[in-house]
Amino acid sequence: MKKILHLISSFRNGDSVSIKLGREIVAKLQQANPGAVVQEVNLVTENYPHLDAPHFQAFLTPVQELTDVDLEAIKYSETAINQLMDADYIVIGSPFYNFGIHSALKAWIDHIVRPGITFRYTENGPEGLVKGKKVYVALTSGGVYAEGPSQAMDFNGPYLKGVLGIMGMTDLKIFRAEGLKIPGLQEQALNKAIESIVL
Ligand SMILES: Cc1cc2nc3c(=O)[nH]c(=O)nc-3n(C[C@H](O)[C@H](O)[C@H](O)COP(=O)(O)O)c2cc1C
Repeated sequence: MKKILHLISSFRNGDSVSIKLGREIVAKLQQANPGAVVQEVNLVTENYPHLDAPHFQAFLTPVQELTDVDLEAIKYSETAINQLMDADYIVIGSPFYNFGIHSALKAWIDHIVRPGITFRYTENGPEGLVKGKKVYVALTSGGVYAEGPSQAMDFNGPYLKGVLGIMGMTDLKIFRAEGLKIPGLQEQALNKAIESIVL
């Protein structure tokens, strides 16, 4: 049975376009994989803490030497990585907020980039250890970044591609609902994004 992990990083709940687009991607995955199990995780309400010294110290400590303090610090990372490793498909809703991803998604990323667990350093550079996943990003923005004058500020998609890629998640597709604040584009942006979904 296939497993789908849907990560939400919009705080706009019922109004959120990235949640709607993410759920459309999930529905298509379920059609293609009857019986697939879906786990939806709202990173905004989960509220992973900012990465700090005790978290990172625990990351660097060998398992057999972890103290109770380390185990407490590392629990966010363990939960996030277990959910990630367990999934076959990962759907990530990622709105543009102030020219970047939401800090809740960044906090989640900071807890899953773990040397020796999700990637390792080799003589040839970093090697990803999270293999065999298919990742789909539901990217939303008020402006248009895929083309035109704001293309140079297309930060979210390339960033996610880079950081997930370094952990081995290189099979990644981005579906965009763009121009959500631009009259003339906003009306059809979600429908166009849904129509663009090809798994
Ligand atoms: C706090 C905030 C900051 C935003 N910053 C940007 C931005 O920098 N660039 C942009 O294109 N759109 C920006 N937007 C518009 C959102 O990307 C747009 O509303 C999108 O629908 C958000 O995704 P969501 O509906 O899933 O929450 C911003 C919206 C909010 C609420």
